[in-house]
Amino acid sequence: MRNIIIDTDPGIDDILAILFALKCEALNVEALTTVSGNVPVEIATKNALKILEIANRRNILVASGASRPLRKDQLTAELIHGKDGLANMNLSEPTIKKVNLSAVELMKERLLKSKEPITIAAIGPMTNLAILNILYPRVFSQIEEIIFMGGAAFCPGNITSGAEFNIYVDPDAANLVFNSGVKLKMIGLDVTMKTILKKDKIENSNDFGGETYKFFRRLINNALEIIPQSMEKGGIALHDPLAIGACLSNDILKYKEYDLKVETEGSEGLGVTLVDDRSWSQSKKNAKVAVEVDNNAFIDLFLKTLRK
Ligand code: RIB
Ligand code: CA
Repeated sequence: MRNIIIDTDPGIDDILAILFALKCEALNVEALTTVSGNVPVEIATKNALKILEIANRRNILVASGASRPLRKDQLTAELIHGKDGLANMNLSEPTIKKVNLSAVELMKERLLKSKEPITIAAIGPMTNLAILNILYPRVFSQIEEIIFMGGAAFCPGNITSGAEFNIYVDPDAANLVFNSGVKLKMIGLDVTMKTILKKDKIENSNDFGGETYKFFRRLINNALEIIPQSMEKGGIALHDPLAIGACLSNDILKYKEYDLKVETEGSEGLGVTLVDDRSWSQSKKNAKVAVEVDNNAFIDLFLKTLRK
């Protein structure tokens, strides 16, 4: 069993990732911490509470985090995720409440109290993690591993020609995390753009599956209307769910260790992640970067798990 805290900016694929994690028997979701990214943090927090209500997991703690990046201006992606961050499903307000702690304080409390290691699954901009590192470096060093959806090592970006959204939103936070010495796994666009969920993989019969699966199907159908199909190859890229898949012990992903850096200055290159792939390089390797994915195996695992 792996204990995880999901740091998230729900967003459509974040919701898919949270649903997937909640159904994975090998994962214990300790808490959800929210951050400004796809949508402002207030909406991200509301969506995190809502999905726990829909999944009937009301006991999982939710704490609200950073409302903007460390240095850059706030950037959100309502055009892709809808103003409500849920492909404009316009759900009712959640009835469960967030805890009266910030995301950083909840991460600190769980890391200090837990007798077992905790992994952080970071599927939004890394602002909360950077603040935890700045305020409580000793607690930060207790993190078992950070498995993050972000970056693009050998492929184009999605928010600029070279940068991936989560890193681009807060490159300074990513830079702090990359240089912190924490065990890092990068699940970048190199692999997530190969895990495209297509409409024909989803049952159309309305009576198939339980409440959660029916919600999942509605979300997918709405998302397919709003996410530019040119951007996600005629389906929905399972960016964040693949980061949850990386928390499971399986051979769906293959990794290579690299010296991983991020560009924090400039304009065109801002937020670009760089890996040193020179065979003679002596630079210190600080991250395992996912370089291959068995995409069919992952999509099958994702759907089988959600149908449970
Ligand atoms: O680039 C994809 C990432 O940015 C995903 O985490 C998506 O939710 C957005 O946050
Ligand atoms: Ca996300």
